[in-house]
Amino acid sequence: MDWGMKNRISRIISPESGRTLMLAVDHGYFLGPTSGLEDPRKTIEPLLPHVDSLMLTRGVLRTSVDPAISVPIVLRVSGANSIVGEDLSNEAIIVSIEDALRLNVTAVALSIYIGSRYEHQTLKNLASLVNECERYGIPVLAVTAVGKEMTRDARYLSLSCRIAAEVGARMVKTYYCEDFQKVVKSCPVPLVIAGGRKIPEKDALELAYRAVKEGAVGVDMGRNVFQSSDPAGMIRAVRKIVHEGSTVEEAYATLNLKV
Ligand code: R5P
Repeated sequence: MDWGMKNRISRIISPESGRTLMLAVDHGYFLGPTSGLEDPRKTIEPLLPHVDSLMLTRGVLRTSVDPAISVPIVLRVSGANSIVGEDLSNEAIIVSIEDALRLNVTAVALSIYIGSRYEHQTLKNLASLVNECERYGIPVLAVTAVGKEMTRDARYLSLSCRIAAEVGARMVKTYYCEDFQKVVKSCPVPLVIAGGRKIPEKDALELAYRAVKEGAVGVDMGRNVFQSSDPAGMIRAVRKIVHEGSTVEEAYATLNLKV
């Protein structure tokens, strides 16, 4: 691995702890103004001091994030669909490598949809992106998006994560599931988990706790942070679990939730 690639990965995954806390705010690329992200700047700014990296689209990066920040950017580069469209898996690469470099991103992210109608297309997208990004030392994070008919179990997620790594992703983002260790063991690159739909804060903290205990290098959480009634408290609580070895109870006790 060359210096640039290593340097970028170490800006996302702490070389000291081997862990990472990523904040995902890229949902608008297919959900539009989703709850909690209607005004991205207002949501993102108070959370920035607590995160290791920020995952978002170029539109939100340009309009809603101060260019003077030092937080590494993980840029979503796949999309071209919507929640009301025909098939979410019908994605393309929608950002050029030149624009990613111009935006000084640390990594790029793209979704793959194993078992979906557009599986082949999304894997070709991943391969093309890896081919381009390796030339410039930019790590590709593959997101194992789940199609409507797919079960989020260890068998399916192991298949998706392993394929992502085999095609060349330097990191994979997936979901926590029962027997998660099986997913971790069969994936040769670092794994982070998404939080998924909003669930009670304690359950989301439990999810983060189990994921890192069972081998994930961290979390890339979105809705369970910015849709909480205490978003800054929630990101700090997740940080305690990921980086400070706190228990779920200890982290939960620090929250100031509105009832
Ligand atoms: C989904 O397609 C996006 O990549 C999100 O970034 C991802 O799902 C993580 O966010 P959440 O924790 O809200 O699931």
